[in-house]
Amino acid sequence: MTARETGYFTEENSAEVVSDRNAAAEDARLKQVMEVVIRKLHEAVKEIEPTQDEWMQAIQFLTRTGHTCDDWRQEFILLSDVLGVSMLVDAINSRRPSGASENTVLGPFHVGGAPEYPMGANICLDQKGEDMLVKGRVTDTAGNPLEGVRLDVWQANDEGFYDVQQKGIQPDFNLRGVFTTGADGRYWFRAVRPRHYSIPADGPVGDLLANLGRHPFRPAHLHYIVSKPGFDTVTSHVFDPEDPYLHSDAVFGVKESLVGRFERVDDAGLVAEAGFGGTHYWELRFDWVLAEARRP
Ligand code: BEZ
Ligand code: FE
Repeated sequence: MTARETGYFTEENSAEVVSDRNAAAEDARLKQVMEVVIRKLHEAVKEIEPTQDEWMQAIQFLTRTGHTCDDWRQEFILLSDVLGVSMLVDAINSRRPSGASENTVLGPFHVGGAPEYPMGANICLDQKGEDMLVKGRVTDTAGNPLEGVRLDVWQANDEGFYDVQQKGIQPDFNLRGVFTTGADGRYWFRAVRPRHYSIPADGPVGDLLANLGRHPFRPAHLHYIVSKPGFDTVTSHVFDPEDPYLHSDAVFGVKESLVGRFERVDDAGLVAEAGFGGTHYWELRFDWVLAEARRP
């Protein structure tokens, strides 16, 4: 018998011996996934050569990560986010024809059931922050306007908090809304200029970032889910080009095509026409291009 066939474990044959034990797995995909994970994990351990104390630290880190999860907080997703794995899985699953809008991370702050508004509505319910007018068009990849596109938008306020993080401070559904395009594919609504914010950093993932010399901030952005039956749903953001964290997003969500342009409008007539009461507003124009859904 070869060393591998004996089933005896050695440092050299470790990955093969463990994977061979899974030979009878009925689920071929599970078997394949575990073969790769075991191979890569053993390779990492062989390269790192952790001490027992270091391995225990890793176990304790994962234990704390699990204990930090509850109905509202998903620390494992956050871990996947800061390691770039969420963005990689998304990239693999949202390959699109050139010209179609790109995806980025969904994040934990999407809430179903946001109010459906007519075009032009103001999603800011507490009058705090700098006014912003958002407008654009949704088309297919040939440039034809798309009717009946649902745009589900949400954002943090100008202090960098989502409504769900400040219950009792912000009104429920503050800075969230759903809009549906008409025949011209156009959309427009009013909001406030978003600000950068910290991802939840008071748990093990925050500690990891600090130990790695990394900050926990995400550049200012506006979230969208743009959907229409028959087309690939775009789950994405538009980013503020002037944000100091644009090139160091804690979760790697920034793509060049998703960086918007915020133009300041000071003309009193235009401010009044847009329905704002202040002295200026920011105008953000951003178009979305949907690709036809791929057939399975
Ligand atoms: C967000 O953009 O809402 C987000 C994304 C990933 C982790 C935390 C927050
Ligand atoms: Fe966000």
